Order: sequence, then C-alpha cells, then structure tokens
Amino acid sequence: MEKNNEITCLIPASDIQARVKQCAKDISEEYRDKNLLFVGILKGSFVFLSDLVRELTIPCEISFMQAASYGSGSTSSGSVDIALDTKRSLKGYDVIVVEDIIDTGRTLQKISEMLRAREPESLRVITLLDKPSRRTVDFSADESLFSIHDLFVVGYGLDFGEKYRELPYIGVLCP
Ligand code: IMP
Ligand code: MG
Repeated sequence: MEKNNEITCLIPASDIQARVKQCAKDISEEYRDKNLLFVGILKGSFVFLSDLVRELTIPCEISFMQAASYGSGSTSSGSVDIALDTKRSLKGYDVIVVEDIIDTGRTLQKISEMLRAREPESLRVITLLDKPSRRTVDFSADESLFSIHDLFVVGYGLDFGEKYRELPYIGVLCP
C-alpha cells in the first residue's frame, strides 16, 4: 500500500486510474457529436482533468476557473471567492465542470449558477470526490467518482496548505 510518514492511503492510484478511464470512456460516447468544453476548477482539479482528457477519444476544449473557500487550512471560511473567471463565451458548448471534491457544496453551487446564466448548450458537473455528509447547501453533482466519509483528504491535486498535490493517490493526513 502506498504510504509515506504523514499520509495514509485512502484510494490507491490504480483505483483512481480505473475510474477515470471509465469516466472518459462514458464521456467519449455521450459527447461524440457535441461541442465539448471542460471547465476545470483550479487548483485542485488539475490532475484529474489532465488524466481525464488524455483518456478521451473525442476532441474537446479546456478552460479554467479558480474559486477559493478554504484559505490555507482545513476549515471552510464559508464564502466563495471567484479568483479567476473563464473569459470565454459558453454559447453553443456542452460544458462539463470538473472539480476535485464537493464538501459543503457552496463552491459548485455558485459556479454552476454563474455558468448556467451564460447559456451553454448543456451543463454538467463531474467531481472526483464527494463528501455528502458535509453538505450545507442543496447541491449534487451529476457524477462523482468516489464518495467518501467526512475526512480531510490530500493528493491527486488536493492540498493541505498547498502541500501534497503531487501525490498520485488520495490519502488522509495522520494526526
Ligand atoms: P465546498 O465549497 O465546501 O464544496 O468546498 C469545496 C472545496 O474545498 C474543494 O474544491 C477543495 O478545494 C476544498 N476541500 C474540501 N474538502 C477538502 C479536503 O478534504 N481536502 C482538500 N481540499 C478540500
Ligand atoms: Mg477545489
């Protein structure tokens, strides 16, 4: 089992890769005749989105937004700042928002509302991880690859104080 001194593995890299591959296969079939645009939510989604698009068998475009609700710790500040907005028009595009993890749901609730108002052809949200027990607003993703308990996780793009994003697996910080 992948492990370092501070982190215990929760989801091994091989499990993540298998789910990402299947997700890319499903998208490749479903969006074959569409105008696919991914909007990745920085920074956490950068690894997931990179792996996902490289498994696609159809063309796509990629854009990013950045939201911040956590600061540098592990407790939510409660408000969502849009630090970087996608400047492009969504008209005529079938948009898939890609997120690392849904916690309270505030970030994606806000971003979905913003993007829907720009009238894309369709809009759908895919998240790598979901912590349904932590939800404080009524939001659910169209697809989540892994549902987890109320644990603070790192790796595969997710950080704690900007650290651990480079780990190829999802782990839990040891106390
Ligand atoms: P929400 O708005 O509360 O759903 O927060 C979602 C954001 O908080 C995610 O995009 C992550 O950046 C961050 N976050 C929530 N839970 C975790 C975690 O367990 N590890 C790392 N980041 C997290
Ligand atoms: Mg995030």
